[in-house]
Amino acid sequence: MSKREYSQDNSDSEEQESTSSNETESTSESDSSDSSSSSSEESTTSSSSEETSEENSSSSEDEETETKTKTNGQVVENKQSFSDGKSLPWMVGKNHTFPVAGTEFTIDQRYQYIKKIGHGAYGIVISAKDRFENESVAIKKIMGVFDRLTDAKRTLREIKLLKHFNHENILCLTDLLIPPVKENFTSVYLVTELLATDLRQIINSEQQLSEDHIRYFLYQIIRALKYLHSGKVIHRDLKPGNILLNENCDLKICDFGLARISDPEEENHLLTQYVATRWYRSPEIILSWGEYTSAVDVWSTGCIFAEILNRKPLFPGKDFMHQLKLITMVVGKPSKKEINSLENEKARKFMKKLPNRKQFDFHKLFPSASEDAIDLLSKMLQFNPQKRITVEESLEHPFFATIHDPDDEPICEETFDFSFEKDKLTKGKLRRLIYNEIIDFHKKKRQTYKEK
Ligand SMILES: Nc1ncnc2c1ncn2[C@@H]1O[C@H](COP(=O)(O)OP(=O)(O)O)[C@@H](O)[C@H]1O
Ligand SMILES: [Mg+2]
Repeated sequence: MSKREYSQDNSDSEEQESTSSNETESTSESDSSDSSSSSSEESTTSSSSEETSEENSSSSEDEETETKTKTNGQVVENKQSFSDGKSLPWMVGKNHTFPVAGTEFTIDQRYQYIKKIGHGAYGIVISAKDRFENESVAIKKIMGVFDRLTDAKRTLREIKLLKHFNHENILCLTDLLIPPVKENFTSVYLVTELLATDLRQIINSEQQLSEDHIRYFLYQIIRALKYLHSGKVIHRDLKPGNILLNENCDLKICDFGLARISDPEEENHLLTQYVATRWYRSPEIILSWGEYTSAVDVWSTGCIFAEILNRKPLFPGKDFMHQLKLITMVVGKPSKKEINSLENEKARKFMKKLPNRKQFDFHKLFPSASEDAIDLLSKMLQFNPQKRITVEESLEHPFFATIHDPDDEPICEETFDFSFEKDKLTKGKLRRLIYNEIIDFHKKKRQTYKEK
């Protein structure tokens, strides 16, 4: 199938917020029936006492950046070179500082600010001109990285994952800015390829979307998921704001701060509590229902599919009880046996009380959708994750018959190693790990630069 063109009618809007606060809350596996929401991710693991004197101890990396920083905030000298004296030819070596939406960006002069393009829960994203490559890039500033242990972990996770992935439908990291001061930096800047917009903006625009558009969007999301899941990674926060698009309809998934391992044996201690976007959250997460797997991403993809079809969120729950009510109204109430298998007593009681319902007629709910679209959608939106269609099966579904190409749907050869999450990570340790990841990125880049 040829890629469909669409006119970009709103990519210029500067102040698009990618996350509505209404959509995001934290959930706790141990108390999923409590509607009160807390604002912190994995807050139970975070404690200021974990901050130790390690914070400022020197580390053993053999490569350092030579840095001079003026104290007036206008950092100008930031000579980026390794200890062997060789400079990094792709950096100017001088920073400049400019205000963006109430914060300051301090970045190498290689990048010239164009405008703010995004604002999520964790970062501010700008577009910039890369003077070295002579192209436009996106730069995400993650602020207050070490304010909470969970934010530092999230940042380390996102950096490691972005470095690990190499797939057409996953956002590609092009640079990681070296912090001017290794010991006490508080922000991290991720540079990635620039895309025109995100799916949230497209859905909210007047842009007409044909079924071919929708098919192509969906196909690329699922193609990316095949790669992620084969590398044992679950994204866990798929939503329109985390799906980027170009004018030619090329699509890339971004925002990997919540991603996790999909190996059931590893899960229990990792998946205790986290913040994700409620509207796209699967029933098994809301109900702490057994182990949860890559099927959570299929659920979110189903919600996104429905939202593209009807141009409005399918399950805009106000809190998670409301979320469950909305879900069961559309997909039906699970069987008694399924409800009895819920471990959480409160969750069981709540589900039992909900009125009995069968799946709503999807033809009525999605009047513009074809038979194939409706069939796939109803298979993705199965309440029970074990009955939900998998990513591999989705690719084989007749809805994708015209574009599915088994020879061009690569898997991730190397499983991502999440074992660092198991170590006792203090803020000081995380600072060093993040710094080392950044230096390692430049080391590898220098290697390929030499080879060129
Ligand atoms: N490479 C990019 N190209 C275009 N827009 C982007 C890019 N990266 C992020 N954005 C925009 O910025 C928003 C926030 O980025 P994201 O990585 O999701 O941060 P957060 O973790 O704060 O949600 C996205 O929803 C998107 O609108
Ligand atoms: Mg986001």
